[in-house]
This record gives sequence, C-alpha cells and structure tokens, in this order.
Amino acid sequence: MAAPRIIIAIDGYSSCGKSTLAKELAAQLGYNYIDSGAMYRAITLYFLRNNVALDNPIQILDAIASINLSFVFNEHRQASDIYLNDENAEPYIRDMIVAEKVSEVAAIREVRSFAVGQQKRMGRKKGIIMDGRDIGTAVFPDAELKLFMTADPAVRVMRRFKELYTSNPNITIEEVKHNLELRDYIDSTREESPLRQASDAILLDNSSLTREEQLSKVLEMVNTRIAAIKH
Ligand code: DC
Repeated sequence: MAAPRIIIAIDGYSSCGKSTLAKELAAQLGYNYIDSGAMYRAITLYFLRNNVALDNPIQILDAIASINLSFVFNEHRQASDIYLNDENAEPYIRDMIVAEKVSEVAAIREVRSFAVGQQKRMGRKKGIIMDGRDIGTAVFPDAELKLFMTADPAVRVMRRFKELYTSNPNITIEEVKHNLELRDYIDSTREESPLRQASDAILLDNSSLTREEQLSKVLEMVNTRIAAIKH
C-alpha cells in the first residue's frame, strides 16, 4: 500500500531557511512545495504597480478581484514560480521595494482572507509542504506535521544578505538587518493571524545545523508521523 500523503506546515521568522528545507523535503518526498510568502509578495507587487492605497478598503477589494495567482513548476529552480495574472512574477518579488512593503500588505484582513482561501484549496489533495507565518495556526491547523523554525538573528541576516547580494551588489548588511527586524516585528504583532508557534508545532533551531543534518532530522519526523497514521 502506498504511504499516506500528509500536510507539512513550516512557519517561522524571515530568513530562517524555511524555503530551503521545504524545497529539499518536497524533492525527497515527491510532494508539492508552496511558498505562501510568494503570494503576499506578488499581491504587494500588484499593489505597488497599481498605486493601491493601503488605507482604502475599496481600492484593496478592487485590486484583489483583479488578481489571479498560480504556481508553475520551474525545473531549473526545482521549485514553483509564482504567476501574477499570467506573468511570471518571480524575478520581481524578492526586490527590496517589495520586501519593504510586504509585511504591511500581509497584515490587511482582505488580503489574508484571499490568500488563505487559496492556500486551503491547495491543500485538499494533501502531499503538500507549505511555508509561511500562519500555516500551522490558520491555514492548516490539522496538518500532520508542523515545524516552527528559528535561527540566530545574525545568522539570518547574513543568509539573506548573501542571497540578495548576487542580484544587488549595492545592498548593505545594515539595510538587510533593518528590513528583517521590521518585518519580524510587524508579522508577529499584527492583529490578523500573527506569527505564532502552534501549540503542537516542533521547534527547530537550525543556527548550527548543516542542511544535511536538518533534512535528515525532519525526514525522520515525517516518517514517524506517517508510520503513526498507518497503525
Ligand atoms: O516568507 P517571506 O519572507 O517571503 O514572506 C514575505 C512576507 O509575507 C512576510 O514578511 C510576512 C508575509 N507572510 C505572511 O504574513 N503569512 C504567510 N503565510 C507568509 C508570508
């Protein structure tokens, strides 16, 4: 009998290595990986391009009604690219201009209910790994495996800096640090499903774990959960 397919929810602060782990797990398990942050980033990109006023609910609802988000697997990246109304938005959503606004946009109730509704539908067939801030608490409260990732703030800043430096050599460590601190603050203090560790999530601090160590630790957890379902 084929192994049951489960839902894996990964939450945590910005730049804790959630997507690296999620991508590797998806490849090992043959699961679908969904980067929920990419959805908030693509919505932010649309809002910026169309000058949507964040304090105007009518403009926000109009904008949301004009947004269609989808994911298309990219063999080269071994992950899905996000499409914003038929345009591959992946090349733009990690820009600093989007990073600076995304937490504010993600705190808007109408934006969250649009994104969360779509995320819940994506989980219907199981066999999915989703990372974000509210996956274990709001999107998939019944996920079979929930992880809450943390890492030393200095380690996180350097990881994100190296990632961004390739496409933007003018970026400074200070700028990255400021953006991460601000996003963590907004993400964990907002009213609408703030970043929280779900009571049944496993805390994973990867400050001093190699990628391989982290992956094998989590694969063990996955196998334990699957074995528990079978019995
Ligand atoms: O994971 P990320 O850094 O790409 O996410 C970008 C922003 O989106 C993050 O600052 C908070 C928001 N976000 C959210 O509110 N809920 C999620 N499930 C995922 C991301």
